[in-house]
Amino acid sequence: MCPPNKKEKSPKKVSHASFAALLEENRIFKPTPAFRAQAHIKSEEIYRQANKDPLKFWETQAKALAWFKTWKKTLIWKPPFAQWFVGGKLNASYNCLDRHIVGSNRNKAALIWEGEPGDSRTLTYFDLYREVNQLANAMKSLRIKKGDRVAIYLPLIPEAVICMLACARIGAVHTVVFGGFSADALKDRINDASAQLLITADGGYRRGTVVALKAAVDDAIKQCPTIKNVIVVKRTGKDMAMQPGRDLWYHELMAKAAAFCEPEKMDAEDLLFILYTSGTTGKPKGIIHTTGGYMTGVTFTTKYVFDLKPEDIFWCTADVGWVTGHSYITYGPLANAATVVIYEGTPDWPKRDRFWKIIEKYGVTIFYTAPTAIRTFMKWGTQWPDQCDLTSLRLLGSVGEPINPEAWIWYYHTIGRDRCPIVDTWWQTETGSILISPLPGVSALKPGSATKPLPGIEAKVVNEEGREITVGGGYLVLTRPWPSMLRGIYGDPERFQKTYFAKWGGQIYFTGDGAKKDKDGYFWLLGRVDDIMLVAGHNISTMEVESSLVDHPAVAEAAVVGIADEIKGQAIGAFVTLKEGQKPDKTVEEVLKDHVVHKIGPIARPQKIIFTHDLPKTRSGKIMRRLLRDVAEGRALGDVTTLADASVVEALKEKYGEEE
Ligand code: PRX
Repeated sequence: MCPPNKKEKSPKKVSHASFAALLEENRIFKPTPAFRAQAHIKSEEIYRQANKDPLKFWETQAKALAWFKTWKKTLIWKPPFAQWFVGGKLNASYNCLDRHIVGSNRNKAALIWEGEPGDSRTLTYFDLYREVNQLANAMKSLRIKKGDRVAIYLPLIPEAVICMLACARIGAVHTVVFGGFSADALKDRINDASAQLLITADGGYRRGTVVALKAAVDDAIKQCPTIKNVIVVKRTGKDMAMQPGRDLWYHELMAKAAAFCEPEKMDAEDLLFILYTSGTTGKPKGIIHTTGGYMTGVTFTTKYVFDLKPEDIFWCTADVGWVTGHSYITYGPLANAATVVIYEGTPDWPKRDRFWKIIEKYGVTIFYTAPTAIRTFMKWGTQWPDQCDLTSLRLLGSVGEPINPEAWIWYYHTIGRDRCPIVDTWWQTETGSILISPLPGVSALKPGSATKPLPGIEAKVVNEEGREITVGGGYLVLTRPWPSMLRGIYGDPERFQKTYFAKWGGQIYFTGDGAKKDKDGYFWLLGRVDDIMLVAGHNISTMEVESSLVDHPAVAEAAVVGIADEIKGQAIGAFVTLKEGQKPDKTVEEVLKDHVVHKIGPIARPQKIIFTHDLPKTRSGKIMRRLLRDVAEGRALGDVTTLADASVVEALKEKYGEEE
């Protein structure tokens, strides 16, 4: 226990005097001899081997999985379409469960879950196996079969993981929708995937209050003709309506379900899941991942990037609704028979030490979180982590956006107590698993750099013409296929090709990120170069927010930009032109913000709405976002020569200045 106002001095308290020194030195952090000695990978030899024969390297990694049938061909690459481990058969749930319950992992903790109110549950591998089998049978009894889509809209409770694995077991394709998304966003995703079944809960806990998920579901599925049934997990016990014939209680179905369900023998290229991410057009993209390649990527990276050992307690703080949760809560760690911690709620409930208390309580050894969270912890102050016992930690991770060196050092010093390597892991929903990251027993770390591509991965920085930049900034691209790469956008192969492979001749994958490479070959990620914002590490497209704004009857036109924000990385700024007769005031501003929340969810709430009588446009009618960004961030105006009506920006700037 560790109340922050505890009188007696904690023996674990660290000194913060050296923080500034660490920052000033611009140091390189080499693995300590002790860490290197125990690490899975101790030498750079693995990079050379993988480079010499990438296919052989990936075959070796794929062999860490259990296959019902070995593949015939490792890769068929017809850009942009890749097939990996062609002809191989396997099952993801078998790999995460069945092969562990026959040995000493049978009674090992698979999931340690803590609910926000303080309740907790531990499921051993055998417990998880049993639940997954039963749910798989329950889904079959609802006529769900291989290839059908199942939407999962749950709080972070063990059932979220159980549902994913149960889908994988019978070959159903899951699409997890983050519980913070609104009814509208849920509806769009269900309809795009034509899901037949939806699994939700009566609610979940967030910052002390119940989030009424089922109410959002009832609202959404009025317009989801493909949904036949809704399975409802009883989490809060709060009253809510069940529609007879359609809605079924999870626990009642489970009570009737048989204990064993034969895992479906899936082709390596059979779909495992669809996960929606923001696209520059405003319509979310259903990123598709298949079984063999994805499982190979996540199994490999979980073991080697996090240097995972059987005794580790692994905590990735993401929600399962994001790809980080898919890959590093569910599939990667469980395929490696790890013990995984999951926590339902927010880091400040009931107090700002909740994360540190969880680390102390369960003896977490590997902690993986996002820079936006780290910056928030910095703001809250060191007194919260200082009075908790964090000595169990041995490795830290960061994901979701660039981590600024100051936050890196703070994390290293205050949380890692100068002992734990930090793996800054760059990847995307599309890449399926981590691609650019240190290997902690080998890499010398530079705060703020994700270091270098992992073995088997070829990443480059190129200029507008696609020519490689060996030192300097440009676009980040991937020049070789990798097993866990997306196989497409659900139902839209053309958009897949256009979005990722069109910029440089069809073979090169464009990440949408800017990056610079230094003289040592280190990659420094610079954020998005397209119209995607990274708000608290979440992808939100400017178009998505714009279309939700213009959907409101009072709005004539809207332009959305990401504005620099100390904690969130980017915040959302919206420039709005109202229809004739509408008066811009605080009430309208709040109404519009709420409208965006209603359409997308709280993560998309604009921080600021700026009303303007016109938007700056080029003569061809394109909104000049760059100028708006300048205005929103209070910078001197860039080039305005292509502007149709230069007075618009000046007027905006004046007005924005006044409002500030
Ligand atoms: O811009 C990069 C940023 O997050 C984007 C991918 O977002 P998403 O698909 O939601 O997946 C997030 C979790 C993998 C990337 O295009 N990003 C992710 N990790 C990093 C990062 N930017 C810099 N450094 C990172 N470590």
